[in-house]
Amino acid sequence: MSKNNPPGFVKSMFGAIAPYYDFLNRLLSIRQDVYWRRRLVAAMDLGQNARVLDAACGTGDVMLEIWRQKPGARVCGIDFSTEMLGIAARKIRQAARNPEGRLLAADILHPPFAQQSFDGISIAFGIRNITRRDLALEHFFRLLRPGGMMAVLELSTPRAGILRDLYLLYFKKILPAVGGLFSQNMRAYQYLPESVLNFPRPRAFAGLMESAGFENVGWKGLSAGIATLYTGRRPA
Ligand SMILES: C[S@@+](CC[C@H](N)C(=O)[O-])C[C@H]1O[C@@H](n2cnc3c(N)ncnc32)[C@H](O)[C@@H]1O
Repeated sequence: MSKNNPPGFVKSMFGAIAPYYDFLNRLLSIRQDVYWRRRLVAAMDLGQNARVLDAACGTGDVMLEIWRQKPGARVCGIDFSTEMLGIAARKIRQAARNPEGRLLAADILHPPFAQQSFDGISIAFGIRNITRRDLALEHFFRLLRPGGMMAVLELSTPRAGILRDLYLLYFKKILPAVGGLFSQNMRAYQYLPESVLNFPRPRAFAGLMESAGFENVGWKGLSAGIATLYTGRRPA
């Protein structure tokens, strides 16, 4: 995140776009976001009753995908936007789950959990928005039990060639226009490509995960590199 986009900006931006967030995700990614979250959850290799933290849970799509894959999982979501959490609560209720005690309004940089509370931690499209990624990763490491798995999903761009040129045209010009039109929030959909283009390359972000203590760190480009899935384990 750039110095011009402090946490207060990020929080109020997600608060403002919350009602349009799911619709625009599906539209702007032509539903690839659903597939990416499926891959994220599968990558955590969770047991049936795993305790899972979904950080920056937003409107709850990762939490619902965890329950789809592992109905017995004990999932907790945290996010600092109460507007995003309100939508998550409604969706969780509609899925016949009780949102009570599962959704917490909290900053990832001040997580209200004891050490080693979770078997798995996920964060989808969240880490890019956090100023102190190093601190966030250190918190995630401490919150995982030894042997627990962390999975990070983040938007990225194709590496090279005509595909990259075409994607950048879409990402920098068309996406902000469409997103701004539907959400009436131009700045939010300009911030999206800016923040993705400012995010470290996979090797560099994997290095940050290793510095926080994770081992077996790896990454995989999804949908021609439009998203990247990172995984790492807390040593057993
Ligand atoms: C792009 S949304 C991702 C939501 C969801 N994970 C998904 O898959 O759609 C990013 C979310 O991160 C949250 N967020 C950003 N920084 C945060 C922080 N420091 N602490 C808690 N939540 C944060 C925002 O409020 C927003 O809901």
